[in-house]
Amino acid sequence: MQEQDNIISVRGLSKYYAKVCALNDITLDIRRGEVLALCGENGAGKSTFIKMLTGAEIPSQGEIIYNGNPVSGLNPQSSMEMGIAAVYQEFSLIPYLSIAENIFYGRELKKGMFLNLGEMYRKAQELFASMEIDIDVRKRVCDIGVAYKQIVEILKAVARNPKFIILDEPTASLTLKETAIFFNVIRKLRERNTTILFISHRLEEVFELCDRAVIFMDGRLVTVKDVKDLTMKQLISLMVGREISNDYPSPQKTSDEVVLECRNLENASVHDVSFKLHKGEIIGFGGLVGAGRTELARAIFGADPVTGGEILLHGKRYVPKSPRHALDCGVGLIPEDRKTQGVLLGLTVRENTVFSSLPKYLRLGFVIDSKKEHSETQRYINELRTKTPSMEQLVRNLSGGNQQKVVLARILSTECEVLIFDEPTRGIDVAAKQEIYSLMCRLADEGKSIIMISSEMPELIGMSQRIYVMSGGRITAELQREEFSQELILEKAALGRKKGAA
Ligand SMILES: Nc1ncnc2c1ncn2[C@@H]1O[C@H](COP(=O)(O)OP(=O)(O)OP(=O)(O)O)[C@@H](O)[C@H]1O
Ligand SMILES: [Mg+2]
Repeated sequence: MQEQDNIISVRGLSKYYAKVCALNDITLDIRRGEVLALCGENGAGKSTFIKMLTGAEIPSQGEIIYNGNPVSGLNPQSSMEMGIAAVYQEFSLIPYLSIAENIFYGRELKKGMFLNLGEMYRKAQELFASMEIDIDVRKRVCDIGVAYKQIVEILKAVARNPKFIILDEPTASLTLKETAIFFNVIRKLRERNTTILFISHRLEEVFELCDRAVIFMDGRLVTVKDVKDLTMKQLISLMVGREISNDYPSPQKTSDEVVLECRNLENASVHDVSFKLHKGEIIGFGGLVGAGRTELARAIFGADPVTGGEILLHGKRYVPKSPRHALDCGVGLIPEDRKTQGVLLGLTVRENTVFSSLPKYLRLGFVIDSKKEHSETQRYINELRTKTPSMEQLVRNLSGGNQQKVVLARILSTECEVLIFDEPTRGIDVAAKQEIYSLMCRLADEGKSIIMISSEMPELIGMSQRIYVMSGGRITAELQREEFSQELILEKAALGRKKGAA
C-alpha cells in the first residue's frame, strides 16, 4: 500500500548515449504533494532524468511506476494525459504569438472552425490574475523580457492543471522581483496539492521551497534527505563530493588607465549613459530586469545601434559596426541569452571554442594549427571543468551548464581586452561558479578589463570594485566598494521605474 503515497517511482533507471552513461541505476520514490529538489553539478544527469519521466526520451533500462502502476512506452503525449507537465531548460515559446496563444498552444480554444481569441485572452488573463501576475496577455512573446518569458513558460505548464510538474531551472533567468512571483506560483501549486520536482543551481531556493532534496552525481543517486536535516554546506559537499569555499577571490589591483569610456550614450533602450572602465578592473552593473543593462552591453558590442553620445577605447573614438568588428577591436561579450546567441549546437566543443578567434589558429595565414587548437580547447575544458567525453563531442549533447561553459571558452579564447559578462554564472553549478570567479580575477590580474552584469546580488557585491546601478535605461547610481549593500542597490534599481514594465 506504501506505493499509493507515491505519485511516481522509478526502479533501476539507466540511460546510455552511445558510450556516455548519463543515468546509472536510479531508484527513487516521489511522494504525492511534495516539493522535491533535484540537485547536482552540471552534467550530473538531472535533465536526463526528467526526460525519462516525461517520456521525451526512452530509458535504456529500468521501470517507471505512476500511481502504483508500471508504465511502459511513455511518450510526451501520454505523460501529459497522465497529468505530468514539464518546463525545460530551453524555451519552447513561439515568439510572434501572444502570451495567451502560447499558453493555449496545441490545445487552442475554438468557436466552430475558428480560433476563439477573445476566450483565450480572457482565460489566460484569469490565470495570470489568479497567480497575482500583472501583465497584458495580448503582448507578443518576442516583446517581453527573458524573465517574463520564463514566467509564461511556467504558467503554460500550470494552465494544464498538472498533478505533477517538473521545473528544470525555472529561476535561472529571474531577478529578485520575478523570483518572488515564482515563489508565489509554487505556493499556490502546493495549496492545490500539486507534486513538484524542482531543479535549480540557486541552492537557497532549495531551502526556501523544498521538502526533500535528492542529489545526483555523475548519473548516480547519492542520497535523498529532508531539507530540514540539511545545511547548505552539507548539501554542497554531497553535490560536489568535496568542500568548496563560499568566498569571493580578493579584489584586484587596478591602474588609473581608462580603457573604455562611454559618454552620454544613447539609443532606443539606453539613455545618457556615462561611465569609465579602468585597466584590470571588474565593474558590476546591477538593476532589475528591463533596466537596460543587456542593451547597453549590446551597444558596446556593436550588436545594437548607438544613436547618440560616444564610446572611447583607449581614448580613441570607437564606433563598433558589428560584433565581428567589436571582437577585432578587442571587445567581447558573453551574452545573456546563450541558447540563441552564444552557442553553435551543431558544432563540436573544439569548433565552438576556436570559432571566434580563427585567425589566431592560422599558420602562415592559411594553415590551421590544429595542435594549437587542441591544446587551447583542452586548456579551457580543464579551466572551466567542462564535462564532455571529448573535445569532438557535439555541443548539442552537452548538459545545459556545460554548453554555457563552451560559450565562455569561445569568447575567452579571443583574448579580448575588454570583456563583458552578461549573467556569467546563470545555470552554472556551485563549484563551477567558483572556477569562473577565479578565472575572472585572473583575467583582471593579467590586465583585462571586465564589465559584469549580474542579477545575483552576492556575486555582484563580491566580485565588483565599483557598481553602477541602472533603471529605465539610465545609470541611477555609482557605488564604491565600501558603500555596497543589497538594500542600496535595490533602492537605486527601483528609481524611476514604471509599474508593470515587462
Ligand atoms: N544526446 C546526448 N548524447 C550524448 N550525451 C548526452 C546527451 N544528452 C546528455 N548527455 C550527457 O549526459 C550527461 C547528463 O546530462 P544532463 O543534461 O542530464 O545534465 P544536467 O544534470 O541536467 O546538467 P546541467 O546542470 O548542466 O543542466 C552529460 O554528461 C551529458 O553530456
Ligand atoms: Mg540540465
